[in-house]
Amino acid sequence: MEGNAAVLCGLGAWVPPRVVSNKELTTALDTSDEWIRSRTGIEQRYLVDKGMATSDLAVEAGKRAIESAGSPPIGAVVLATTSPDRLCPGTAPEVATRLGLVDVPAFDIAAACGGFMYGLTVASSLVSTGLSGHILLIGAEAFSTMVNPQDRSTAVLFGDGAGAVVLRGGEPGEPGEIGPFDLGSDGGKADLLAVPAGGSRQRFVAATGQGLADARPPEYFLHMDGPEIFRNAVKRMTSSSRKVLDQIGWTPDEVDALAAHQANLRIVSAVGERLGIPQEQWLTNADRVGNTLTASIPILLAASAAKDLLRPSDRVVLTAFGAGLTWGSAAMTWPQITPRIDVIP
Ligand code: UT7
Repeated sequence: MEGNAAVLCGLGAWVPPRVVSNKELTTALDTSDEWIRSRTGIEQRYLVDKGMATSDLAVEAGKRAIESAGSPPIGAVVLATTSPDRLCPGTAPEVATRLGLVDVPAFDIAAACGGFMYGLTVASSLVSTGLSGHILLIGAEAFSTMVNPQDRSTAVLFGDGAGAVVLRGGEPGEPGEIGPFDLGSDGGKADLLAVPAGGSRQRFVAATGQGLADARPPEYFLHMDGPEIFRNAVKRMTSSSRKVLDQIGWTPDEVDALAAHQANLRIVSAVGERLGIPQEQWLTNADRVGNTLTASIPILLAASAAKDLLRPSDRVVLTAFGAGLTWGSAAMTWPQITPRIDVIP
């Protein structure tokens, strides 16, 4: 009989085929490979082509996570995304249907880069209360569609992709158990990282041209105060991770892997150093994928497990931070699991 723990039992990821190097970005933007590498650690990213949407990425990652779990019946689908296919309805029901999951509950979670940790908390609660047998949680983003291609301060940072996990109910203490969790938010700093227009506050107005590639005025794209977001990211991911470490009773040198949101390798270093977790334990792939928002942590987990950097019984700390502001962390022990991932970034 299943107990009341939420256990990771499936893992998959998928990135779109088009690889864009830093050098390629320099053809259209006043930037350089040296600036992007030294400020962020990013060397390349995967981007969607015209016609490819978030649901397309989510379906590919979801399919792989379900296969990795041994194709169990899935009782619910949660999709964390910042770049839904449309404003209404949510994208998760379409993803569920395209995965052949008929009549299951399916809903989106909007918490920007913190979204995967919010989704993990909600999905874990659903399985540990017995409401859903197996639950599919996907983080998927075609966020490059929301970034101004002419704004060098944001256009070089983001990549597209999707990662997914399957959770099941299990026994407390078994490998793969997820928790404790910590979540937080600070809406007073919402303007530090935002797409100001297009919602009910700053409503849609007819585009006026202005020379943008798709004639959207700048307020329909992402705006960011990079240095302030950097400072808040380091502060919040560090304090949130400390809370889960205190709750579970692990010292930093007992942590086998730190899976921090991959916005910028300098942020990962700052968080790892402040936590006192040795550098060898920091998982990284921002150099290969850039900042993929809600997809960042599941892509990182799938890639790291495929490279054998995550092994059964490893003690793992997951932590993320993003627009909202939102942040969240969790501890988990790594299960015996084979990720499904074609390209390993
Ligand atoms: O997922 C959560 C969301 N996002 C983040 O966590 C991102 C957090 N922020 C960051 O990662 C960093 O703040 C950035 C990578 C965005 C920027 O790095 P920074 O070291 O904070 O640079 P900065 O914004 O202070 O800009 C330094 C200079 C500026 O020029 P001046 O004013 O010193 O002359 C910028 O105009 O770099 C310039 N700059 C660029 N130069 C070349 C900004 N973007 C670029 C660029 N290429 N792409």
